[in-house]
Amino acid sequence: MQYGYFDDNSREYVITRPDTPYPWINYLGSDEFFGLFSNTSGGYCFYRDARMLRLTRYRYNNVPADAGGRYFYLRDHGSGDVWSPSWMPVKAALDRYECRHGMGYSRISSARGGLAFSQVSFVPLRDNCEIHKITLTNESNIDKYIDIFSFVEFCLWNANDDMTNFQRNFSIGEVEVDGSRIYHKTEYRERRNHYAVWAVNVPVDGFDTDRQTFLGLYNGFDHPQAVFKGEAGNSIASGWAPIGSHHIKTKLSPGESKTYVFVLGYCENHEDEKWESPGIINKKPANVLLEKYGTPESADRALAALNEYWKNLLGRFTVDAEDKKMARMAGVWNQYQCMVTFNMSRSASYFESGIGRGMGFRDSNQDLLGFVHLVPERARSRILDIAATQFPDGSAYHQYQPLTKRGNNEVGSGFNDDPLWLICGVAAYIKETGDYGILNENVPFDNNESLADTLFVHLKRSFDYTVNNKGPHGLPLIGRADWNDCLNLNCFSKTPGESFQTTANFESGIAESVLIAAIFVFTGPDYVSICRRTNRNDEADRAEKEIAKMKEAINEHGWDGLWFLRAYDAHGKKIGSRECDDGKIFIESNGFAVMADIGLDDGRAQKALDSVKEHLDTPYGIVLLQPAYKDYHLELGEVSSYPPGYKENAGIFCHNNPWVTIAETRLGRGTRAFETYTKICPAYREDDSDLRRMEPYVYAQMVAGKDAARFGEAKNSWLTGTAAWTFVSISQYILGVRPVYDGLLIDPCIPSGMKGFNVTRHFRGADYHIMVDNSEGVEKGIKSIMLDGVRFDSVVLPAFNDGKRHQVIVTMGNK
Ligand code: GLC
Ligand code: GLC
Repeated sequence: MQYGYFDDNSREYVITRPDTPYPWINYLGSDEFFGLFSNTSGGYCFYRDARMLRLTRYRYNNVPADAGGRYFYLRDHGSGDVWSPSWMPVKAALDRYECRHGMGYSRISSARGGLAFSQVSFVPLRDNCEIHKITLTNESNIDKYIDIFSFVEFCLWNANDDMTNFQRNFSIGEVEVDGSRIYHKTEYRERRNHYAVWAVNVPVDGFDTDRQTFLGLYNGFDHPQAVFKGEAGNSIASGWAPIGSHHIKTKLSPGESKTYVFVLGYCENHEDEKWESPGIINKKPANVLLEKYGTPESADRALAALNEYWKNLLGRFTVDAEDKKMARMAGVWNQYQCMVTFNMSRSASYFESGIGRGMGFRDSNQDLLGFVHLVPERARSRILDIAATQFPDGSAYHQYQPLTKRGNNEVGSGFNDDPLWLICGVAAYIKETGDYGILNENVPFDNNESLADTLFVHLKRSFDYTVNNKGPHGLPLIGRADWNDCLNLNCFSKTPGESFQTTANFESGIAESVLIAAIFVFTGPDYVSICRRTNRNDEADRAEKEIAKMKEAINEHGWDGLWFLRAYDAHGKKIGSRECDDGKIFIESNGFAVMADIGLDDGRAQKALDSVKEHLDTPYGIVLLQPAYKDYHLELGEVSSYPPGYKENAGIFCHNNPWVTIAETRLGRGTRAFETYTKICPAYREDDSDLRRMEPYVYAQMVAGKDAARFGEAKNSWLTGTAAWTFVSISQYILGVRPVYDGLLIDPCIPSGMKGFNVTRHFRGADYHIMVDNSEGVEKGIKSIMLDGVRFDSVVLPAFNDGKRHQVIVTMGNK
């Protein structure tokens, strides 16, 4: 069944009941301050780094689910009735409920006992705070006396320490209260120069900052004793757990509405301006912030500015088609998710705790494919940050820390696919912008300025890293693992709990990856193009030879008869072969090899994709491998550690499904390409939400495969490379509007039943209005293109760069 619906006009997903099959969340924030916000007001916020500078506490894996948020409690003074207008945490039944997740904001509206409530929550552009504007309306015909209580629980900044180091933390919590403003200042007395403020724009009748006083030691968030009593304790936290709660008493006549603006902000002072007077924090930055958002009108203006920001951003690529599900995903939600992965990488979601991973080298380069058309300037600086963590030999730290931008030693390196993704990311950036200047930027190696060289040299080292690290079959050595983090062929881990990602490797010099070979053949030609376009023809010739050699190695040692092999293990044995008992066929090498056009000329590409369909396809997407590994294999590592059907062990690992989609378009099979696209696309499974469980408006990393008990259930929504790759597959290969070095290539590959579609695309300073007509009902092929009313003979539209709008009419069909 469905728990809501898409409101396409307002670009919102409207959740119509609070008890969704899992918390369905949204992200607030677009620059440095971010919040996670669920449909029942759960979540938390942080400044720049979810681990180091977290403002509010959140309890992952708690009971009940989704514990912690910015809560409002309402109490009817007359009847003593208490409820949460967001349903959680009190869970008193609501007469009405709706949550609208929009672009960077969420609205909750509800009603109980004749009192309507509405809330809009967002992070304004350029300021480091969340705004929660709430309105109460008396819909009854009697006067209502209402107690409003706000509630946030502060995190003592370092979210990891906050959840582990209680011997210290229970003694250090400090606050200040000044009227309606509650300041959280733990550790400000020593090395921190920042504090949080939680304020409301009206005078209050009471407050609490001590959790135990507010809740009662043995109560949960669902039964705060202060709220049920109707009286705040005016407590000042000292150690234990500092919180922020305002108590406002108000009277509403029939029909009357009242609006309040709550602001939760992050404030910093200069080192020498920390104090107003001894022990009293300097509140200047807070005053400026709260002044700015002190009225409902100013909050509304900030929200309007945010809406405008998103309207412009999403205006850069829009889709109009009969298939509304595809149009809303490609035009809105998929791009929105790409921006979230840009901002969050893999740090903070309801599956990533915000204290674990830094920014992945390969993840960030792939994420870029999905947002480079939206924020090219930011993609540029992201590329330079990533490249600066590369080692001089071309290999890379697997992760780097967003705050310091330095490579993460704990996670180390040795994932041998990593370097190639840098070429892939830079190529995407240049194709989008035409900015070859980026290649001349001086970029450190290993964050060491004295090792700096041009970005071009970084690309060369990336390319050569693969060339210089090949195994017995002339295929790339896999190292710790390739794109599949769990294919740990040199690991041989026997120790329970040992991390497959970081444990010492026995570098065999034998284990090889066919996937890396295919990535090399796919992305190598971009390196060649970049060389040629910057007059490095000798280097281009050399690179072409290397690519040809790699193709040969794949042809000779990477083909299994009906599909592409996946790898050779440290003993030189095949993985992903019909000779294997389990793991006979894998998705990744097959998708990528065909994406790289390998086997297009001799029928192997088609065979490979037909085999993928036959052995790996399911109604919910394509599983990663078959048959699932039943037992743990020392020589394979983590992939075989998962129960069959989950994660990399034969789960539907959505990230690699669009590789098959793109591969199908290389064969011209538009109907099949679209089928693989829709199977993992959340909007098509909206009415199946009880099984899928995750948000119908975002992709999930994994859907349980056919070997799992919960076949079809998704997990790990939001922060996944699926977002970028599905956007590439639908926008560039199915709808076929693809930036290339010389302009915008038009190359649709769609189901024969799709009559046509319209796309608008902002590209290098001009707007292209592209109308595709497929009344002939083909899957691929262009009969004619009219550009600004004149017949145009190429399929590559020029980069006009003239700030104008250009009309493109594409007729598909056989010439
Ligand atoms: C996760 C990682 C990604 C990896 C994938 C497959 O999504 O973030 O880097 O490629 O798993 O293991
Ligand atoms: C595990 C997961 C994989 C993820 C990795 C990140 O190996 O299975 O999906 O990429 O952890 O560290």
